[in-house]
Amino acid sequence: MQPMVQRINPPTHEKSTRTLARRQCSDRIIPRHIAFIMDGNGRWATMRGLQRSVGHKYGREHILTVAEMCYDLGVQVISCFAWSTENWNRPPAEIDYIMRSTEKHLLRFVHQLHAKKIRFMHTGSRHELPESVLRVIDAAVELTRSHTERVFNLVLNYSGRTELLEVARQMLAQPLTAEEISETTINARLWTAGLPDVDLLFRSSGEQRISNYMLWQSAHAHLHVCNTYWPMITKQDIEQGIESYNHNLGQE
Ligand code: FPP
Repeated sequence: MQPMVQRINPPTHEKSTRTLARRQCSDRIIPRHIAFIMDGNGRWATMRGLQRSVGHKYGREHILTVAEMCYDLGVQVISCFAWSTENWNRPPAEIDYIMRSTEKHLLRFVHQLHAKKIRFMHTGSRHELPESVLRVIDAAVELTRSHTERVFNLVLNYSGRTELLEVARQMLAQPLTAEEISETTINARLWTAGLPDVDLLFRSSGEQRISNYMLWQSAHAHLHVCNTYWPMITKQDIEQGIESYNHNLGQE
């Protein structure tokens, strides 16, 4: 299991997370946690006659820009889905490129977060990840451990179902009684323990799928799909996502 993170700006009550998750900014509510499904790197490159790896390079370089747009608007937590457990079925050369480039560039990326007092965390299974990538992830977590206001969560080697299976196994192993099992005891065992629920689930490139992403954490999230490929996401795209989130507040 991942080490638990300190709770980010703890809410005053444990209930009503959807209400607590919002922060007022001018005339609209800013989501506290945006979870991105960064989709379309490959298509962005292919459309330009470039190799898919070029799309991943531009996509990677665009992450900080998008994150800064969000933090500037008042968002506290950004989760970016970089690699799912299903992605290991991709061609070996692409897997190799993603893992090598993560190992090579992650620390530089995280130093930029550190300079802005943003905490880095990793969500996902450590099992299949190369040792070299895990070392860099651990160093990044350590470097930014003291920051508490804003979080960048890299979702790497993640499967929502695997996460929930691990929670179930842990509860069985302890063991917990049926009465002890609650949303609170499940929340405390998730890989994202300590983070607020997802308010806005934002997918780029037009695909209308959840892709096994943050299944428990997104139970009350608003889903926004934007047609732009990830390397081209603009501030206007983010603004539209937040507008659509505001439009749908209170719809449950
Ligand atoms: C989605 O595009 C993107 C990925 C699967 C890889 C994203 C990973 C990174 C950018 C690495 C992050 C590393 C650091 C250092 C922060 P796609 O390949 O699914 O695009 P497609 O749907 O058009 O094929």
